[in-house]
Amino acid sequence: MPAEVVATLAPAPGQVVADCTLGGAGHARLLLERISPGGTLIGLDRDPDAIANARQVLAPWKGQTHLLARNFVQLPETLAELGIERLDGILADLGLSLHHLEASGRGFSFQRDEPLDMRMDPRSGPTAADLIRDLTAEELGRLFKEFGEERHARGIARRIVAARRRAPVATSAQLADLVAGPGRTRPGRLHPATRIFMALRIAVNRELEDLERFLASAPGLLRPGGRLCVLAFHSLEDRLVKQAFRRLERPCTCPPRAPVCTCGAVPMARVLTPKPLRPTPAEVAANPLARSTRLRAIERLKAQ
Ligand SMILES: C[S@@+](CC[C@H](N)C(=O)[O-])C[C@H]1O[C@@H](n2cnc3c(N)ncnc32)[C@H](O)[C@@H]1O
Repeated sequence: MPAEVVATLAPAPGQVVADCTLGGAGHARLLLERISPGGTLIGLDRDPDAIANARQVLAPWKGQTHLLARNFVQLPETLAELGIERLDGILADLGLSLHHLEASGRGFSFQRDEPLDMRMDPRSGPTAADLIRDLTAEELGRLFKEFGEERHARGIARRIVAARRRAPVATSAQLADLVAGPGRTRPGRLHPATRIFMALRIAVNRELEDLERFLASAPGLLRPGGRLCVLAFHSLEDRLVKQAFRRLERPCTCPPRAPVCTCGAVPMARVLTPKPLRPTPAEVAANPLARSTRLRAIERLKAQ
């Protein structure tokens, strides 16, 4: 949703902005075009491949960029290291990049046969194969239910545990076959592995914990009038964004029937998107992966 991102963040020449999820650097390019001349872009991605790619794509703006292979939870300390106090705009376009699905070789897609890794940052943490090998049937079932909202979570977990007693489940194709099972795929229906792969990926990358930490710190890094724009790809992420933004706008913790506010909480931001923005049919046709995207944004209040 590049047009919506630009319209929401309204970047202007000389501004300092952060793209916390560089990916293919498409959004970062658009932002740099608009903050030039004189602007600065801090670009983060937890995947070092994305940073290597961004260095090439954004080479024309070399003097105006700081590109770092870091998790976006590290944005506050990154700004402190760079001596930057406040940002005019922050973008987080969550989830996987096209590179992850199509070229990383890390088993993100059940349509390919690759090692079951699923780490966005291959430098740290257990892989999906480690989780499949080490978690109990109960833990796997909980993970599939909680992060994949999978109805048959426990049955699938039991099938995995039975299979791994015979041989390690180490590739994406092995896992997809196990989850789908004979006769369980139907044309036109969501592939049964979709939710399981999503759940594993969320767990491997601690996506929801990191998003919560990011949402707690990022608004405080904006200058008054600065804007934060988040694009979420699944309902679990979007719920966290919606709730965090609502708390910033309405922080009051007084009982709902209290005649006047006595808690003293002061709103930090206003929500720019009472309803999330969705991609146009034309964008979904061009990029089916974008179909479930929801864009939400806030503006930091001037009175802070
Ligand atoms: C949907 S892609 C971004 C696409 C990008 N906006 C573009 O224009 O090409 C999401 C990117 O966010 C990165 N990412 C996900 N979680 C992250 C986190 N916690 N910290 C930093 N990067 C993260 C992924 O590695 C991936 O490259």
